[in-house]
Amino acid sequence: MTPKQVELVETSFKAFVPVAYQTTEDFYESLFRVSPHLRGLFPKDMQGLRKKLVETLTYVVNGLRYPDALLPVVRDLGRRHKGFRVEPGYYALVSAALIESMERAMGTAFGPEVKQAWKACITFLATEMITAGEAA
Ligand code: HEM
Repeated sequence: MTPKQVELVETSFKAFVPVAYQTTEDFYESLFRVSPHLRGLFPKDMQGLRKKLVETLTYVVNGLRYPDALLPVVRDLGRRHKGFRVEPGYYALVSAALIESMERAMGTAFGPEVKQAWKACITFLATEMITAGEAA
């Protein structure tokens, strides 16, 4: 991510926070609509996971300027995902669903530059998580 992208993610996240938990419902719904084969990996009741996802995104956004502290946490998460039977190819599906649901939630506040910055952020996360999971 470029420094400008870090700034765009940080700023846009402030506007996203109030709608974040609600947006995770739309995110998982659209993920399971597009990729129904992924539903079975997840628990029946998604409320706890929705909360954890928002907490983790908050942690990540707050940590973008401190990669030394952030990376071990992201890599741990990647290793846990391997244990959840998540395969590398699933990350593109999850990333696309997440970006699209954020775009629906934020409307005009999610312009092309902001969208690109979030794509870079999610790609960074996914790459680190996959690499750590594969090495585990
Ligand atoms: C884009 C990066 C991702 C982030 C930030 C993320 C975040 C999280 C978090 C915070 C948890 C809670 C569990 C824990 O902390 O150990 C979790 C669990 C889980 N995630 Fe992800 N995740 C990502 C990608 C994926 C992908 C690609 C899949 C594939 C479908 C996936 C499927 C799951 C499953 C199945 C669980 C466990 C649910 C359970 O049994 O409790 N995640 N994820």
